[in-house]
Amino acid sequence: MLSAQVRQNTRTISSRTFDKMPESQGKRGAFIVLEGCDRTGKTTQCKTLVDKLMQANIRAQYMNFPDRSTQCGQLINGYLTRKDDFTDEGIHLLFTLNRWERMKEMEKLLKAGVNLIVDRYSYSGVAFSSAKGLDMEWCKAPESGLLKPDLVILLTLSMEALARRGGFGDERYEVAGFQKKVIERYGMLKDDRYWKAIDADKTFDDVTAVLYEEVLRAIEHSGDKPLEKLW
Ligand SMILES: Nc1ncnc2c1ncn2[C@@H]1O[C@H](COP(=O)(O)OP(=O)(O)O)[C@@H](O)[C@H]1O
Ligand SMILES: [Mg+2]
Repeated sequence: MLSAQVRQNTRTISSRTFDKMPESQGKRGAFIVLEGCDRTGKTTQCKTLVDKLMQANIRAQYMNFPDRSTQCGQLINGYLTRKDDFTDEGIHLLFTLNRWERMKEMEKLLKAGVNLIVDRYSYSGVAFSSAKGLDMEWCKAPESGLLKPDLVILLTLSMEALARRGGFGDERYEVAGFQKKVIERYGMLKDDRYWKAIDADKTFDDVTAVLYEEVLRAIEHSGDKPLEKLW
């Protein structure tokens, strides 16, 4: 069991402090990604999972992509909010670079025993760009070499259930027709060796309960495994 002090430290880890953390003598953290189209509940579930893990004295940190706080993330924000424009290829590479920007920090945290619960990752990048018409292999290439998650949870909702959940926002990709194409691309990327599809058409707490079980299992099975690279 970890002390309250250790939990508090984990809660406040930031990009400024990660490089001072000692390497863990024990098991590494698990790298867990939630994917799925807009409004499936990824952000809320990721944050809830981190809270539940920390309440159970398990070290965990939330991360999300795109991370709009970095320099590159600000360019992405301008694109998503329709202030700026880029070619499809250009914005794809910016989303990829945004992940590369955080790779050293993520590796350090995982090796220090912190479990990362990550809201979207390379699969969103490839699914969105290929849904726009870019070649899927071209989209995957610059993601190659990024850390590979131990578990990808794909939250699924039928188009009807998605419509019941309320309107999309005003950002560029939040259009039902486009989301449908994204779902098809997720289907092409899905790798059953480390992906789990979970039906998100249940109450929020019921979804959390299913996800938490999966997360605990991944943490238990990842601790002694080496970190792998994507594709
Ligand atoms: N199981 C659920 N049932 C009903 N509404 C939900 C459920 N999960 C999330 N929501 C709601 O759907 C909206 C989108 O959730 P969010 O976590 O932002 O999704 P995402 O990050 O996948 O776009 C929020 O208003 C959230 O409260
Ligand atoms: Mg979200």
